[in-house]
Amino acid sequence: MRLTETADVWWKNAVVYCLDVETFFDTDGDGRGDLRGVSQRIDHLAELGVTCLWLMPFYPTPDRDDGYDITDFYGVDSRLGTHGDLVELITLAQDRGMRVIADLVVNHTSDQHPWFQSARASRESPYRDWYVWRDEPPADADKGVVFPDQEDSLWQYDEEAGQYYLHRFYKHQPDLDITNPSVREEIMRVIGFWLQLGLSGFRVDAVPFLIDPAGSLDAADLPDPHDYLRDLRAFLSRRSGQAMLLGEVNLPYKDTRTFFGDEDGDELTMSFDFIGMQRLYLSLARSDPAELAKALRERPDPPEEAQWGTFVRNHDELTLDKLSDDERQEVFDAFGPEKSMQLYGRGLRRRLPPMLDNDPARLKMVYSLLFSLPGTPVLFYGEEIGMGENLAIEGRNAVRTPMQWTAEANGGFSTADPNDLAAAVPDGDFSPEHVNVAAQRRDPESLLNWIKLLTQRYRECPELSWGDCTILEHQSPSVFAHRSDCEDGRIIAVHNFAAESARVTLAVAGTGVGVRAVDLLEERTTNVREDGVVDLDLEPYGSRWLRIIRPGDRYIV
Ligand code: NOJ
Repeated sequence: MRLTETADVWWKNAVVYCLDVETFFDTDGDGRGDLRGVSQRIDHLAELGVTCLWLMPFYPTPDRDDGYDITDFYGVDSRLGTHGDLVELITLAQDRGMRVIADLVVNHTSDQHPWFQSARASRESPYRDWYVWRDEPPADADKGVVFPDQEDSLWQYDEEAGQYYLHRFYKHQPDLDITNPSVREEIMRVIGFWLQLGLSGFRVDAVPFLIDPAGSLDAADLPDPHDYLRDLRAFLSRRSGQAMLLGEVNLPYKDTRTFFGDEDGDELTMSFDFIGMQRLYLSLARSDPAELAKALRERPDPPEEAQWGTFVRNHDELTLDKLSDDERQEVFDAFGPEKSMQLYGRGLRRRLPPMLDNDPARLKMVYSLLFSLPGTPVLFYGEEIGMGENLAIEGRNAVRTPMQWTAEANGGFSTADPNDLAAAVPDGDFSPEHVNVAAQRRDPESLLNWIKLLTQRYRECPELSWGDCTILEHQSPSVFAHRSDCEDGRIIAVHNFAAESARVTLAVAGTGVGVRAVDLLEERTTNVREDGVVDLDLEPYGSRWLRIIRPGDRYIV
C-alpha cells in the first residue's frame, strides 16, 4: 500500500456517518431539521473525525417511508431546503476534508411519482412499462414480503390501471422495471446529476431487489442482472473517478461477495457486513466472541480496492434475519425481551445503549471493536453520544428521533413546540437532559470523546482497514484478539466480552529482543517476551489497541 492510495481509494479507511436531515438540526423553527442545520453543525462531524457524510433521502416525498418513497429523483424536498443549501453543505464538508454521499433509492418510486401517476392512468402512457404489471398476480405473490406487519403480497391491484403491479416494499412503493432500457438510462441520468452537484457517491438502497428482473415477464431471456450493476459502476467511475457505491445487500456472504463483482471489483465499491453485525449481537448476548470470530473467518475478502462497511446500528430495525430461530431468541432475551421492542419477528427497534443497560465500559468496548475490525465503520447519528430509542414512536422510526445537542427543550434540536417535532425525543434515562452533545464535549470520560479517540487512531492506523487480519488463538474464552498487518506495520487489538477482568497470552511478534507492545488508546507499554509472546490484562469489557514496535521502528504512538 502506498500511503497516497489511502487517499485515492478513500472509502477503504473512511469514517462514514449517516444522518437524516429531518432529525438533525432545525434552523427555521418548523420542527423539522434542514440542510442548513446540517451545515451549521458540520464542525461537530469534523471534530468527530467523520470523513464521509451519508445523507438519508432528502428528495421530495409524501413521507410514508421516511423519504424512501420519492416523487422526484432530481429534487430536494422543500421542507428540508434547496439545491443551493445542499451545494453549500457539500462545500462546507469539502473544506473539512469530508465527502458527501446520499441514498440512491431507485428500486421503486412513490405511487405519487408523476411517472407512476401517468403509468397507471393509461396503457398508452410512455411510463406504463417503467413499472412491472400483470393481469394476475403470480402464485407466489406472498413470498418474500419485506414488511409483513403491513403487507401480505408483493402484488397490488390498481383500479385505475386495471392490472396488478409489483412492489417489493410497501404497496405505495411500486417497483421500477429495471429491464426497461429507458429506466436504466434515467437512473444513470439521476446519478450523473447528483455527481455534477458534488456528491461523491451513493448508498444504494435494496441492491439485490434493484437488479433482480423477477416479475418482468421475459426475465428468463435476460442477461445476467449483474451486468447492469457493472454498467452503473462503469458510468459512475467515468463521470467521477473518486465516486463510490455503498450497497445495501443483506444476503449470505457468498452471495454478497458477488455484488463486489470480479477480482478487480467492478460492481459495488462497498457492501455492508450484515452477517458480522448479527453475529456480533449473538456474541454480546453470550459474552463470548466465538460467533463473531466465526463470521470474520467466513467473510470473503473483498477485491483489493473494495471494502466491507461495518456497523453496529443503522436507521432500520436491528435485523437478526440471518440467525437461527434459537439464536435470534437468545438475542431477543438479552436485548429486547418485550414484544414492543421487536419488529417483524426478526429484529429489534432499539439503539445499542439501552440494550446494554447503558453500561459505559461495554458500550466503549463495542465501538472499539467497530473501529478496529477490518472494514470501514459506518455510524448512525446519535451513536457518538449513546442516544436511546423512543419506543412510543411506531415501527422503525423509534430509532430516528432528533439529535440531542443540549439539555434544553427538544434537546436543542428545534425551537418548535414539542408537539410539532418531526419525531419526539425520548423521556427517562435517555432524554436530552441525560444524553447530549454539549455535556459530553466537556466530559473527558464521555462516549463522545472515546469515539473521537477511536476515529483518530483508526485513521492513523491504515493497517486496520488495509491490512491482513488474523484472528489470534489463545486460552481466554471471553477475549477476542486480532492482528492487522500491513507491510511493516502491526497492530493487535484485544476485546473482553465479559463482565469480569481477563488476562490473555498472545503470540504477537517474531522472536527478538526489545520488542514492545505500545497501547494506542491509553498510556501503557508492555514488553514482548523474546519468544514473541505477550501477556495482556483486560478490565471487565476492556479494550486495548497495541502497536508492535521493534527496535529501530519509527512510529509516533
Ligand atoms: C431499505 C431502507 O433501509 C429502508 O429504510 C426502506 O424502507 C427500504 N429500503 C425501502 O426503500
